[in-house]
Amino acid sequence: MSSILDRLDAAFRETFTAMDFPAQIAGVQESTRGDAPFQCNGAMGAAGIAKKRGEKLNPRDIAARAIERLQDHPLIEKMDIGGPGFINIYPSQTAISLRAAELVADKKMGIAQPDSLSIIVDYGGANVAKPMHVGHLRSAVIGEAIKRLLRVQGHNVLGDVHMGDWGLQMGHLISELEIEQPNLPYFDADKTEDFPTKSPVTMDDLARLYPQASNAAKSDKGRMERSRVATAELQAGRAGYMALLGHFIDVSVAALKVGYGNLGVEFDLWKGEACVDPLIPDMIQELKAKGITEEDDGALIIRVEEEGEKKEIPPVMLLASSGAVLYHTTDLATLVDRKAENNPDLIVYVVDQRQALHFEQVFRAAVKADWYKAEQLYHVGFGTMNGKDGKPFKTREGGVLRLEDLLDIMNEAAMKRLDESGIGADFDEAERSEIARKVGLAALKFADLQNQRLTNYVFDPERFTAFEGKTGPYLLYAVVRIKSILRKAEAQGAKAGDINVVAPAEQQLVLALDGFGRAVSISAEKYSPHILCDHIYKVAQAFSRFYSECPILVDGTPADVKASRLTLAMLTLRQLEMGLNILGIEAPDRM
Ligand code: ARG
Repeated sequence: MSSILDRLDAAFRETFTAMDFPAQIAGVQESTRGDAPFQCNGAMGAAGIAKKRGEKLNPRDIAARAIERLQDHPLIEKMDIGGPGFINIYPSQTAISLRAAELVADKKMGIAQPDSLSIIVDYGGANVAKPMHVGHLRSAVIGEAIKRLLRVQGHNVLGDVHMGDWGLQMGHLISELEIEQPNLPYFDADKTEDFPTKSPVTMDDLARLYPQASNAAKSDKGRMERSRVATAELQAGRAGYMALLGHFIDVSVAALKVGYGNLGVEFDLWKGEACVDPLIPDMIQELKAKGITEEDDGALIIRVEEEGEKKEIPPVMLLASSGAVLYHTTDLATLVDRKAENNPDLIVYVVDQRQALHFEQVFRAAVKADWYKAEQLYHVGFGTMNGKDGKPFKTREGGVLRLEDLLDIMNEAAMKRLDESGIGADFDEAERSEIARKVGLAALKFADLQNQRLTNYVFDPERFTAFEGKTGPYLLYAVVRIKSILRKAEAQGAKAGDINVVAPAEQQLVLALDGFGRAVSISAEKYSPHILCDHIYKVAQAFSRFYSECPILVDGTPADVKASRLTLAMLTLRQLEMGLNILGIEAPDRM
């Protein structure tokens, strides 16, 4: 069961092949102009090919010959030729009605199910002890959408938060805590067990200790050295420090679960850098044995540059000259861990584009080590969310905006919109604030996802929360409106029934709905949620036109027409909800 577009595409390719032209010139696409829903531009390409073969053929004649061959095709109502030889294609009403019925019956609503792969999506990437900030937003939102896109295609997908919980930041925290509370048992170098089970710090303590230490270390070399030593001792396995690290991670994970939960983002794996540290010694042995490491100025590196390459790719740093492990090392060890634990077919990293080089280096080393093939590792980068000044978003005081505060800003902007438009004026306070939360979050997520992910965009809560235009709230409104129509229909005892597509707006709606499978496939293939955003927006617009031109519940609508239109409304609702769900966006029941 494929879409009308896919079936037309196959028919035209076959026809052009039968006419001795290559299939790839004869693809069918949605028309961007004119009344015909679809067009095939193959005749122009065919004329070009004929010319190369020494035949002189007019594209309009080729188009006419293709049309003749396809005259009786069951999907096609009529075809005509436009301009130099475009074939305009009008599918038949029967074909459209049948396709609508197929979509109603199909649980997956036209989403193709390729061979199922085992995939890990590495996203989120928040750091232990640092409160979540706006920089974590995009990875969480885009990563969640990509995970869900791959899941609806039937893949076996695990999301891993891959926390930053190793390295200098831990040394900063440990040493800063020691300065504040030197008598804690964790700092007794002779003590190796029986540490308290209750954490000596809260998330607020951590959020205070970290900047305190890192600021002090910036101006004071001695202070920095203290953090370095603590980091090295931690990495060497000092018991008290390991116990502290355990507390830091637990306290942070609890806070991160709340933070990501508020964004509607869920992880299957709460792993991080620290948990793969025990794998590092063996990994380094293996890499040495494979002969791909080199000593360089006391450091241990892997050269990953290929011969004749234009851009410079610095080597992977496995061990610093101090013996410390680095970001490359933990990412490589994570690859070792994932291979042993999950043996995934594919790992997708949804991380800021500014880390592209890091991933290029790590991937090359993993391929060199023969652990993965290059096509199994993929970095999905993204641009930044900027302030009105065009620079990565900051608070008015120039600091980093906490994610919590960002969500508050969205909430407030959404509430203002509800007030302005009188939405939910007669609902109680609790329901209204829940609606504002959903509207604010939908506004933020949709505004983020609808951009091509590599472009930067400007944070503009007012524009994001508008109920008109290509926004999250517009889509929620479309969903809520259909829900309310369906409630009314139920109250009136109107029943849904077979779809019979007649009016142009009905046709247009079904054809829009029929594009869902393709939008999901392309979105997933390119790791580009904006393609799905475009699709959902188009469906919402098509519904809006349908609803204004094709009355459903007004007196005088014949029962069978009402029944058909109700089924169309239900189908649209189901698709909008499925699509929004993939994007991680939740709609209220009413507003
Ligand atoms: N914690 C890192 C950061 O804040 C992001 C982690 C991304 N994932 C990875 N496997 N390196 O920059």
